[in-house]
Amino acid sequence: MLKLTTTSMLTSSTRILRQPLARATTIALSRYNAATATRLFSISSSANVANTNTPTAPRHPRVLVTGSLGQLGSGLVKELRQMYGNENVVASDIRKPSDEFAANGPFVCADVLNYSLLDRIVADWRIDWIVHYSALLSAVAEKNPALALSVNMTGVQNVLELAKIHRLRIFVPSTIGAFGPSTPKYNTPDLTIMRPNTIYGITKLHTELLGEYYREKFGVDFRSARYPGVLSADVPPGGGTTDYAVDIFHHAIRHGHYTCFLSKDTRLPMMYLDDCIRGTIDLLTYPTMLPQSVYNITAVSFTPEELANEIRKHLPHFTMSYSDPARPDFRQAIADSWPASLDDSMARKDFGWKEEYGLERMVKLMLDKIQAQVDAEKKSAPIDSPSTTAAVAA
Ligand SMILES: NC(=O)c1ccc[n+]([C@@H]2O[C@H](COP(=O)([O-])OP(=O)(O)OC[C@H]3O[C@@H](n4cnc5c(N)ncnc54)[C@H](O)[C@@H]3O)[C@@H](O)[C@H]2O)c1
Repeated sequence: MLKLTTTSMLTSSTRILRQPLARATTIALSRYNAATATRLFSISSSANVANTNTPTAPRHPRVLVTGSLGQLGSGLVKELRQMYGNENVVASDIRKPSDEFAANGPFVCADVLNYSLLDRIVADWRIDWIVHYSALLSAVAEKNPALALSVNMTGVQNVLELAKIHRLRIFVPSTIGAFGPSTPKYNTPDLTIMRPNTIYGITKLHTELLGEYYREKFGVDFRSARYPGVLSADVPPGGGTTDYAVDIFHHAIRHGHYTCFLSKDTRLPMMYLDDCIRGTIDLLTYPTMLPQSVYNITAVSFTPEELANEIRKHLPHFTMSYSDPARPDFRQAIADSWPASLDDSMARKDFGWKEEYGLERMVKLMLDKIQAQVDAEKKSAPIDSPSTTAAVAA
């Protein structure tokens, strides 16, 4: 039987006591490698037998990824398809995919607010796991709180209900935004004061608590990681407060200058996309329910000034200015309410989380990738065309 422990009325994240769980303690820590890639799904009921010739053989899980066209979803879909086969990973979003994305595997257009449509997708595709990425991010949510409440809360309620009815494993990411101004700012642990004052944070705390409720009450295999800001070069970020840490690279390479919307000393936890995807897959594929539903994961913490200094090691002429402190950007208040660094020791202990990218490696890779994109744009733009300059400066 699962037991919950809470430390105070303000403490909202619960840690499940570990000894009652039939946990395979000897399982090797699950770095994303060949072993993970071949990890199969045990069939526990005949209803789950779908894509195999031998009805009793283990088979790959069928995974539905909502929000699959976003910054994180597209990379995750790619990795999961490499592990489980294209046909076993159903990508979904409310938007239309590119031809290239659509050609790579099944895609269904679905609004996560449409419960009956999601229900049909789960049944028709015989889904086993859902990775629920559809959400409005912090800055977008703050500009449209009503829509954020709807998408971020009703969407989660829908997928949790589906997980309960169809006995699915479910992963929904949380965020450093689920903490708040009264949370201890440095080395913030998994279990602490959580009083978010942004609509994004409120909806993500709702996700954590509701997921834990479904796990406790209905035995739903709910898993979640609190992501920090995520850096990626290939897919643009979706409107978060940490987006500056991606924008800065594009501006550094294209213009040699960036005006940062956060102040120079705003320290926030971050990680590189590949680490985020690997950590997510390790948590998602862990063979048994872990002691906690929700884990902090992080790689590095830095300020805009520290990031600019690291970029200058490669682009010595790069300059950076900041928004007028007398008239701060609305994202400054959001960032100020978030932790500066996270304690993710429980993730490291319980499922072997470990980042591969620190600041130096991340910066070098971001610059290389974005430089390659700019070079390709230059090559493909017709010589002497008036649009050449505009394309490079977009
Ligand atoms: N990117 C980060 O730095 C970061 C950090 C912490 C947590 N997260 C979380 O990770 C998840 C994925 O983030 P992301 O950066 O890929 O976000 P994103 O904004 O890039 O992608 C979100 C996707 O959700 C889709 N969507 C929006 N409304 C929808 C609806 N009603 N129905 C179906 N789909 C809908 C959008 O079309 C978009 O493709 C989110 O839950 C986010 O809160 C992200």
